[in-house]
Amino acid sequence: MSLKRIFEENPERRYIMFGGKGGLGKTTFSAATAYYLAQQGHKVLVFSVDPQASLSDIFERDIYGKGAVEIIPNLFAQEIDADQRIREYQEEIRQKIRDMYGMDEIPDEIESYIRAAAAEPAMEESAIFDQVVDIVVAGEYDYYIYDLVPLGHALYYLSMASVYDEWITKITALREEMREYEEMAARYARDKELQEDLILKELQYIKHRINTSSSILTDRERTAFFFVLVPEEMILIDTQKAAGLFAKYQVPLSGYIVNRVLPDSLMQQPNIPAYLRNRYEMQQKYLAEIKRLFGDQVLAYIPEFERDVTGLPMIERMAEVMFGNGA
Ligand SMILES: Nc1ncnc2c1ncn2[C@@H]1O[C@H](COP(=O)(O)OP(=O)(O)O)[C@@H](O)[C@H]1O
Ligand SMILES: [Mg+2]
Repeated sequence: MSLKRIFEENPERRYIMFGGKGGLGKTTFSAATAYYLAQQGHKVLVFSVDPQASLSDIFERDIYGKGAVEIIPNLFAQEIDADQRIREYQEEIRQKIRDMYGMDEIPDEIESYIRAAAAEPAMEESAIFDQVVDIVVAGEYDYYIYDLVPLGHALYYLSMASVYDEWITKITALREEMREYEEMAARYARDKELQEDLILKELQYIKHRINTSSSILTDRERTAFFFVLVPEEMILIDTQKAAGLFAKYQVPLSGYIVNRVLPDSLMQQPNIPAYLRNRYEMQQKYLAEIKRLFGDQVLAYIPEFERDVTGLPMIERMAEVMFGNGA
């Protein structure tokens, strides 16, 4: 099985993710896959949920916080600006307070509370999460490629989604029960009923959004999750652990991609430095181990290039190596 065939045979898998530790090639593969799919005529969005986003680096364009930027026809890239989103939240809260209490100015005490809340790390997480949901729910693209943060983070998103989900399911059920009683009391408390209804609606809305985004991550039909690794001992250990965790969260794995493989042709040259030969032999050992562990789940072996992968010509080269043609 090859990467190209996985895409050809599973056209309904429109949410594409590359997981793995930092620095192994997730952003590189995300960009090259987006490039390939766009060349095939699909409308593609590659977006980053990493506060230390690097799509700007790889595309050599400043796209941070600019929404979806068209890089080439059909290929859009977006780096999410969490701070911007948090500022919008803050302003929304201020506006609600002004409207509700008919205030012109927010009291200092409340203002400092609003600021403190925005500094919570969870706030950034939820701002990013929220924006991802917006993007996916809007449904404007054929393919969505998530340029993921390192592994732990992705798992955190998944666990957060399932916790939220449980909580909201309970509250929603309670609210629905309460509504029956409230209907009886409605004649006496018109306004109150209206308010409770709004809260219920808001909760159902949040639940729907969270379900949409977490169900995508665990949807075997629509999601392709690829694991990136390199032939090194620590990474191999890590990858096995992660595969176990992903199985636990029922994230369907489409396969593995092995990056930074030293090409065999290097060894055919005369006078190979010992340093290089050692590294090559070390890789051979771990490549054999990878074959033993993951076998035909490995979809591609990607060579180590002579330089880093930035700019469209390098991205194109990477796409050719990943999806056929080049070497
Ligand atoms: N096959 C490769 N050959 C050469 N450089 C690579 C290769 N794959 C990735 N790189 C480089 O390694 C660095 C880390 O890759 P990146 O895709 O940003 O990793 P991640 O997103 O997983 O943190 C980048 O500078 C990238 O250009
Ligand atoms: Mg990255």
